[in-house]
Amino acid sequence: AGGAGGRGRRRGRAVKEAIYAGTFDPVTCGHVDVAERAAHVFGRLTVAVAEDPAKTLLFPVEERMALARESLAHLDNVEVTSFSGLLGDWARARGVHTLIRGLRAFSDFEYEFQMALTNRKLAPDIETLFLMPNEDFSYVSSSMVREIASLGGEAEKFVPAAVAEALRRRLGPR
Ligand code: COA
Repeated sequence: AGGAGGRGRRRGRAVKEAIYAGTFDPVTCGHVDVAERAAHVFGRLTVAVAEDPAKTLLFPVEERMALARESLAHLDNVEVTSFSGLLGDWARARGVHTLIRGLRAFSDFEYEFQMALTNRKLAPDIETLFLMPNEDFSYVSSSMVREIASLGGEAEKFVPAAVAEALRRRLGPR
């Protein structure tokens, strides 16, 4: 660091800040758990909500951000924002070189492996770190939560209260 140069000389580059990016459609207790763990390890965590991912979305980006913000309000070193374009470029432009992803189960590995190595190829200076959520949430996914809510099930078992309420508003009452 400090102009010393060379890939082997990273003194003074202690990791202070990380980015946890995702679609968060919607944010679940599993995502909150990963964010809590990352907020504990890093001085500052930016939760980056993908504006327009190649997925069919239930919630528009403003609502996905608002729900993430409300669900993470208890963490004073976490900021929620949106991003578009390549994540590695976006992270570097913010001066952040660490990406966080949650690894829930073995089945996540292939997708996460592909994404981490793609990001490494595109942005070799950006490192992806994986955190394991609490096993109570290892089976929870946003699509499962959307399905449960659309069929009138109790989403609050898997998502923060504000998210359950938003799901009810959007998908109708039980
Ligand atoms: N708890 C609960 N669910 C979790 C989870 C956790 N800890 N970790 C992952 N998931 C689930 C989500 O619920 C979601 O489930 P679903 O698909 O069944 O709905 C799924 O895993 C992934 O969603 P999410 O965590 O929101 O992230 P993502 O995989 O959609 O995010 C981006 C992907 C946005 C980070 C990635 O596409 C990206 O970086 N895009 C920018 C473009 C780019 O740079 N591309 C090159 C790199 S690949």
